[in-house]
Amino acid sequence: MLLLNIHHTAVAVRDLDAALSDLAAQYGVGPQHREVIAEQGVEEAMVAIGGSNLQLLMPLGDDTPVGRFLSSRGEGLHHIAFQVADIEAALAHLEESGAQLVDRVPRRGGGGHRIAFVHPKAFGGTLIELVEVS
Ligand code: CO
Repeated sequence: MLLLNIHHTAVAVRDLDAALSDLAAQYGVGPQHREVIAEQGVEEAMVAIGGSNLQLLMPLGDDTPVGRFLSSRGEGLHHIAFQVADIEAALAHLEESGAQLVDRVPRRGGGGHRIAFVHPKAFGGTLIELVEVS
């Protein structure tokens, strides 16, 4: 499998505007892109930093994956996204290696990219997202 980049690191937050305002005040960076992704129950913002991005995720409700994450663990690191050249090939390779997948078939993520999640049990207790940039 070919990993191209750490596409983004995602942080779950309760208040997207407050988090963006903190980032601007503390680090002088702002979002290039902001989007509601209803299927995933989140509003996300992407902040470019060097060759990678910070993704801020705010749940649209308590009964969403990120809402449940915030209830049980509070704000913090949510996932790391690896950019891959071929997401189907990457998923096939992971499945063959025995890694537990959340998504066996890619779905549409922010920015129109195709994404798939790999279960935290597969590696380091960390949710991994694969991204094929389109
Ligand atoms: Co992500």
